[in-house]
Amino acid sequence: MDQDALKKQAAEAALQYVDGGVIGVGTGSTVNHFIDLLAGIKGRIEGAVSSSEASSERLRQHGIPVLDLNAVGDLALYVDGADESNKDLALVKGGGGALTREKIVAAASERFVCIADASKLVDVLGAFPLPVEVIPMARSLVARQIVKLGGTPAWREGYVTDNGNVILDVQGLQILEPKALEQQLNNLPGVVTCGIFALRGADVLILGAEGGPTMLK
Ligand code: A5P
Repeated sequence: MDQDALKKQAAEAALQYVDGGVIGVGTGSTVNHFIDLLAGIKGRIEGAVSSSEASSERLRQHGIPVLDLNAVGDLALYVDGADESNKDLALVKGGGGALTREKIVAAASERFVCIADASKLVDVLGAFPLPVEVIPMARSLVARQIVKLGGTPAWREGYVTDNGNVILDVQGLQILEPKALEQQLNNLPGVVTCGIFALRGADVLILGAEGGPTMLK
């Protein structure tokens, strides 16, 4: 099976967690499979809260209502992908640049089901460059602070987030204490949020694999 088929397999397995109501929907190629599958059971749900303009667009194309988080309150379920996960279900996210809204919807959800192909499971987070969303005027300041923490930030030039901010992709971090680093980076003035999802990690990780999906809880 190719990587895309494994992503689709994980997305299919996540459908078992859909139990009506409003679904939190993440961003990325794995979630795109989930959105397409959700369309097949859209009569069973009220709609979705989306983490990006791209996902909102795809949901609307399928006729799934996109709802405002402020109007619906807490959600039972959030389904999203990841760039990396460790065995504790701490994640690195934001390769697609949607990390801040993803973190908001994850925080509003009772259960976070993460879907990915098996290559995303790692022993130590950090090989994937860690995205950090930054207020534009603080880009250089934050970059200098990140260098002091041992990282090598690169400005994702020409890219603007859905919130009008910029992204620094940080290489060279061995993230041995994800919660501590998440807090430390989020505390830097100018940082909107970093792509570590450890303080609120996933509750379930579904990995598409050759022998069928595996699940970590
Ligand atoms: C989007 O900002 C990211 O957090 C995605 O969830 C992550 O990059 C996974 O994307 P894929 O499903 O495309 O691998």
